[in-house]
Amino acid sequence: MTCRVQVSDTTEEAVRQAAEAIVRILRDAIEERGWASLALAGGRTPRPLYLQLAQSPYRTAVQWGWIEWFWSDERPVPPDHPDSNYRLAVETLFSRITPPASRIHRLLTELDPREAARLYEATIRRVFGVDPPGIPRFDLILLGMGADGHIASLFPGTAALEEQQRLVVANEVPQLQATRLTFTPPLLRAARAILVLVTGEEKAPAVRDALEGPMDPKRHPAHLLRQVDGQVLWILDRAAASQLISH
Ligand code: 6PG
Repeated sequence: MTCRVQVSDTTEEAVRQAAEAIVRILRDAIEERGWASLALAGGRTPRPLYLQLAQSPYRTAVQWGWIEWFWSDERPVPPDHPDSNYRLAVETLFSRITPPASRIHRLLTELDPREAARLYEATIRRVFGVDPPGIPRFDLILLGMGADGHIASLFPGTAALEEQQRLVVANEVPQLQATRLTFTPPLLRAARAILVLVTGEEKAPAVRDALEGPMDPKRHPAHLLRQVDGQVLWILDRAAASQLISH
């Protein structure tokens, strides 16, 4: 496992650094294996990143049609809802780089969450050609991080943090009074690369804890990123990195 931390002076520069890294990782994967697997993050932070990827030079820097598109988590809303992580990608990315519909794998939030998680896991296994007990290795998983240290929809103290077999679960999140669909720790740990983009002053304490705090994933799920097989790249703006001691 390798962990790198890149701090950019501005949010705009952090977004550019993230776009560069994503292009590099995906191009390498496509060159090596003829296709690439990408899991998108949700929330607010990725919006400028996805808009950037849809612009030149990034829009023509990757054979986007050779990518299998997934999401690392999803809210319990319809795909056209303003809070939908799928809709975020459609609005910012897919309107400009139009991947084949067969390669876009959204979480079916119209179903019962447990059924949606089971089906998503089956889709991931089918696309990767990996049966249980094997764990598919994503070429790249994009993540943000909440101010409480959650990643994907692995929130502090929630059951999904204990999952050791499944790849995707429906996770009851009391903090949100909602059930969210999320990648599990085993699927994150198996990734070839994870890119975590975190910006803003309000995330600075969580970033310090994630990178410098004592290991305690139940309290601070971002600590799971210390157990990833592949490379973990943290891309921060100066504000989010402002409380780090050793970077
Ligand atoms: C989601 C994300 C979640 C997000 C963090 C940070 O569906 O909300 O997957 O893990 O990355 O909550 O969210 P912001 O980028 O909006 O601060």
